Amino acid sequence: MSALATKHLLGLRGVSQSDIMTILDTARQFRDILDRPVKKVPSLRGLTVVNLFFENSTRTRTSFELAEKRLSADTINFATSGSSVQKGESLLDTLRNIEAMKIDVVVVRHKGTGVPKFLADNSNAIILNAGDGANEHPTQALLDMFTIEQKLGSLAGKRITIVGDIRHSRVARSNIWGMTTLGAHVTLCGPSTLLPRNREYFPNVTWESDVRRAVHDADAVIALRLQKERMEDSLLPSLREYRNFFGITHDVLEKAKKSVLIMHPGPINRGVELDSEIADGANSVILEQVTNGVAIRMSALYLLSGGRASE
Ligand code: CP
Repeated sequence: MSALATKHLLGLRGVSQSDIMTILDTARQFRDILDRPVKKVPSLRGLTVVNLFFENSTRTRTSFELAEKRLSADTINFATSGSSVQKGESLLDTLRNIEAMKIDVVVVRHKGTGVPKFLADNSNAIILNAGDGANEHPTQALLDMFTIEQKLGSLAGKRITIVGDIRHSRVARSNIWGMTTLGAHVTLCGPSTLLPRNREYFPNVTWESDVRRAVHDADAVIALRLQKERMEDSLLPSLREYRNFFGITHDVLEKAKKSVLIMHPGPINRGVELDSEIADGANSVILEQVTNGVAIRMSALYLLSGGRASE
């Protein structure tokens, strides 16, 4: 039984302010544990989690696995290469077979929008979305929110600018829903071909076509990974042109707040969406985002499984 109002974590759209704040507050306690010499607690002993990754991942998959191990859960990693998916097994059959092995929690990443919801509708397991198509990546947004609050205090009233391929970004979507729920002002900036067609779907955000104007009063700037395949879709003329107009460079940040946080979900295309001197500079919190991701995933796993303790 979940300790949150939601049974699964499929996205942040529609998730209450109270649930988001509970996840962030609980993550703060787990973040402290990560700084201890012994980083393991018995909170999820006896719980079995499968990490079902149908798409590549470095940060999310490793971080979920580490979070599960830190909480003493039993962890199984599933990747499509080497599995019977390669022989044509359907998603539903894969799920049913995994479930037959008495799995409690499924963490899933898939290129198909709605796959986590499909699994939630067809399974008794607790489902956590680790990224579905261009839809949502809720734990990424939660770790972004956690990092901003850790550095700047409450998100309420903060100005957050997201730059890049908004149309295809699940990170942008989850951040829009989560941050506006907590009262932040979100500005979206990118090439017109990479902005969503249905802007009315995002009623509480500001749209800005000029990157300098977009960042000038921002408390945090999140640069999104440019998906290079968008050039093949004829949505971008060249990487050089993208960098010239939307890359976060020293020049672009000249008029930004001196304290602005520079963030990126990774993996970074250095010299495209973010120059190396900015990615590795004093304002960058990119690696802290990665560390905080473990605490956020511990928190989400713990709360969704009812804060179930081993005793
Ligand atoms: N941020 C993120 O989702 O990175 P990975 O693709 O490496 O998991």
